[in-house]
Amino acid sequence: IQAQGIKEIQSAKNLKDLEALRVKYLGKKGEITQILRGMGKLPPEERPVIGELANKVRENITEELKKSKEALEAKALEEKLAAEAIDVTMPGRKSPLGSIHPLRQSVENLEEIFISMGFKVVEGPEIETVENNFDALNAPKNHPSRDLSDTFYITDNLVLRTQTSPVQIRVMKESKPPIRVISPGRCFRNDTPDATHSPMFHQLEGLVIDKNITLGDLKGTLEIFAKSFFGSQTKTKFRPHHFPFTEPSAEMDITCFKCGGMGCSMCKGSGWIELLGAGMVHPNVLEYCGIDSEKYSGFAFGMGIDRITMAKHDIDDIRLFFENDQRFLQQFR
Ligand code: PHE
Repeated sequence: IQAQGIKEIQSAKNLKDLEALRVKYLGKKGEITQILRGMGKLPPEERPVIGELANKVRENITEELKKSKEALEAKALEEKLAAEAIDVTMPGRKSPLGSIHPLRQSVENLEEIFISMGFKVVEGPEIETVENNFDALNAPKNHPSRDLSDTFYITDNLVLRTQTSPVQIRVMKESKPPIRVISPGRCFRNDTPDATHSPMFHQLEGLVIDKNITLGDLKGTLEIFAKSFFGSQTKTKFRPHHFPFTEPSAEMDITCFKCGGMGCSMCKGSGWIELLGAGMVHPNVLEYCGIDSEKYSGFAFGMGIDRITMAKHDIDDIRLFFENDQRFLQQFR
C-alpha cells in the first residue's frame, strides 16, 4: 500500500487529484483506515506488529501528501504569476488622441500675447448683477441692450452677463491703478442661433488704467495684438463708434488676411474685417469705481473670441464650435 500510495501521490498533477488520493488512503473509508479499524479481528499477538506497521504507513503517506501539496501549490503560484506577467516588449495599444478646442487655442494664444505686454489674466462670474453689467458701465436706463429680448434675466437684479465689461468694474472697484488686465470668458445674449449668432459666446476684455494713458497707447497695444495674432502683414484701421462706457469709442478693423485687402467673399469685397470694440474709459465709469478721473485715464477693449477665431481659420458658422463634431474639431490639431 505504501509503495503504491507514494507512487500515485508523486504523479498527482494537481491539488484536486491529490485530495482524491488523501481520501483514498486516509479518508474514513480509506485503505489504511480500514486496516486500523479491522485490528480488533486480528489475533492478539499480531495486533502490535500490524498496528505499528499501519501507523508507520499512515505517517509516511501523510508526509508524502504534505510534500506533494507544497510542491503543487508552488507550481500553481508560479504558473499564475507567469500568466499575469506583462510583456514589456509588446507594442503599445494606441488610444485616439483628442485635440485642443479651437476656441481654447485662441484663448491661450491671446493670453500669451497680452501677458507678454504686461497684462494679468483675471476672471469674473458669468452671473452678474444688473449694476455691474449695465449701471456701472454708464448704460442709460432705457438702453436697448437691457431689454428682456436681448438679455437673460435671472431676477430683477441678476443677469447672465451680456459682455465681459463688468469684469472691468470688479477690477476697478477692488484695486488701485496702475491696472493692466485681460479677462476672457463666456457671455450670453437672447439671440436666435444662426451662422453668426449664438446665445452663448466668448469675449476677451482688456483694461488699462494709469497716469497719462492716451488713445495712442490703445492703438499701439491693439496693433501689436493684431499683428501677433493674425500675422505681421496685418494692417489696422479705427472707425468712430459708440459705447456707453467709453469716450471716445472706436471699432477696429483689420485687413482681410484671405485676400490681403483686395476684397473677397470673406470680407464681403471690402478688404477689411470688423474685429473689436474699444475706447477710452468714460470718466463716469472711473468715478463710479472710486478712481479720480482728473488723475488717471485708461482704455478698454472687448473682442469676440468666437468671431476672431472664425476670421483666423475662415470658419463660416459659429455653431460649429458648439456641436462637438469630430470632423470639425480634428482639423485644429
Ligand atoms: N463690451 C462691448 C461689446 O460687447 C465691447 C467693448 C469692450 C467696447 C470694451 C469697448 C470697450 O460690444
